[in-house]
Amino acid sequence: MALSLSRPVHRLDPLSPDLHEDASRMREHGPIVPVELPGGVAMWAVTRDEPGRNLLKDAERFTKNPRHWAALNRGEIPQDWPLLSLAAPAGRSLNIVDGPEHRLLRRPLAQALTARRVQALEPVISALADRLLGELEQAAQKAPDGVVDFRSLVAWPLPMGVIGSLLGVEEADHPELGRLYSDLFDDTRKDSRDAEGRLHAWLDSLVAQRERDPGNDLTSALLALPPGERLERDDLVVTLYVVLAAGHETTAHLLLNATRALSSRPEQVELLRSGQVPWERAVEETMRWDSPTANFLTRFATEDVDGADVHPDADGVHIAEGDPVLVSYIAMGRDPDRYGPTAGEFDVRRTETNSSFGYGAHFCIGAPLARLEARVVLSRVFGRWPGLTVVGDVPRSPTMLVNSHTRLDVRLR
Ligand code: HEM
Repeated sequence: MALSLSRPVHRLDPLSPDLHEDASRMREHGPIVPVELPGGVAMWAVTRDEPGRNLLKDAERFTKNPRHWAALNRGEIPQDWPLLSLAAPAGRSLNIVDGPEHRLLRRPLAQALTARRVQALEPVISALADRLLGELEQAAQKAPDGVVDFRSLVAWPLPMGVIGSLLGVEEADHPELGRLYSDLFDDTRKDSRDAEGRLHAWLDSLVAQRERDPGNDLTSALLALPPGERLERDDLVVTLYVVLAAGHETTAHLLLNATRALSSRPEQVELLRSGQVPWERAVEETMRWDSPTANFLTRFATEDVDGADVHPDADGVHIAEGDPVLVSYIAMGRDPDRYGPTAGEFDVRRTETNSSFGYGAHFCIGAPLARLEARVVLSRVFGRWPGLTVVGDVPRSPTMLVNSHTRLDVRLR
């Protein structure tokens, strides 16, 4: 029977105990399959690497702009659907437009977020990592069983500190920012539009502050662009919002997932510590094997598309104009067509590239920063505690969009 959006082959559940198990089931059904999201919302999911990359680079037929979402336009998506602010954010921003409008919004950010600015953050990242790891050690010494939560003490505050410094946010304000983001990424909450609105207001006041008192940060650099290249005030606020949203949680998940993977593979830690394999490989292998972005919202078909036009293996799939497509990076990362029969195994000696920072026009603008943060943190953590182990259960965060856990209890020695 032909695959159809009205007959989903899989239901994605934010409370699923194992997103990889879900991903593997979706992949078995085919490279592009109909799935159901919470609230009964149907979408296509792309589950294999090459079809995924083909789709991501075809921004003309698969746009990020939610005004093409037929079900939304027909009023079939409830306004209180918890994922609405992520699938169809309000306003316009670089991550939900395509073509000339996308280039207009992305260029200033690309100009301000230079390789030099990222490189200049290395001492900030190193100092912050040293401080947080020192605090982790102290907490472990005080804990009767020596067990500490790596997530709350390192993986969460580190990227918030880094992105906060990047944007020029005062350190005292980082926790409040973190709380607003937790609200936004919890698929079980009902008030995601509200969290979005509060964040916009908060960032608007940051822009006003940097206007009065410019610093050596990204916000000030965006404000200082020459008139023809500068973003309008509203676009600037939304751009900062996207940078924070895209750059904080994802990097926290990368740190968490990499620490978890390495903690049970001492022989691979040894390859890294001895320099036989560079730390960058541990970062890339985590991105592939345990992608921080799991099932990512969303593309919309601008015309009817036959699956075979995306990839020969998707023959028989008919995507109608206005259908939404989510990109299952978590499924693509373990695609045996691309990574062979050992796709399910974590191995820092692998050398293939992966697609977990996206592909095409929307390729992650913060990839160099995320890679730098992860390399600095992982080399320090396992340089200091090669025998770090994870203790007990690792509970999942209540979302199937990102691949993360609410805590990671570790013993350092
Ligand atoms: C491990 C960490 C990260 C992961 C896994 C990640 C992943 C991604 C992915 C998959 C996309 C493409 C989305 C799409 O095509 O629909 C993307 C876009 C983006 N990322 Fe990242 N990202 C990470 C870190 C960061 C950081 C640190 C920043 C900012 C400093 C950032 C800023 C952005 C922005 C602004 C976009 C939108 C680009 C556009 O639409 O043109 N990301 N990211």
